[in-house]
Amino acid sequence: MRAIYLIGFMGSGKTSVAKALREKLSVESVDTDEKIELAAEKTIPEIFKIEGENRFRDYETKVLKRLSNRNIIVATGGGIIERTENVTWMKRNGIVIYLHTSWEEIADRLTNDETRPLWKQSEQDRKKLYQNRESNYISASDEIVGTDKKTPKKIAEEIIDLINNN
Ligand code: S3P
Repeated sequence: MRAIYLIGFMGSGKTSVAKALREKLSVESVDTDEKIELAAEKTIPEIFKIEGENRFRDYETKVLKRLSNRNIIVATGGGIIERTENVTWMKRNGIVIYLHTSWEEIADRLTNDETRPLWKQSEQDRKKLYQNRESNYISASDEIVGTDKKTPKKIAEEIIDLINNN
């Protein structure tokens, strides 16, 4: 099996879908955000506050490139597509699946979220980020799966079908 990279905006369900895929495929799943927090010995809000977003992106690229194992499911952070080298890496090492979630559903899921620094900005800026990233997610991905109103289990089943038909 090739590595499976899940990409998509904050709140698109990458971590939950990775876990559902892990159960179905019996393959290890990892979350880049979790690995970054371990490497930095800080939470993500602390990294953004103390070291800044650029440093966070450095950690993200480093963590991504350490996961060279082929049999792995990787739940990435929403900004993984901000660096072209990350996209090149993922495309070279596995299949990249974009979990597409509508703006309305994202806004609903993240209403009171306090853990994501880039969500803690004005509604207008959040929406701009969502719109600006959309084309990057599309061009970075091999496959696109819509997630609105679907359970992680259902999304995982759709992903497995896509992989089997590839
Ligand atoms: C980010 C998304 C977050 C996390 C960090 C930055 C982003 O991950 O990596 O807060 O730039 O969109 P999730 O997509 O898992 O929320």
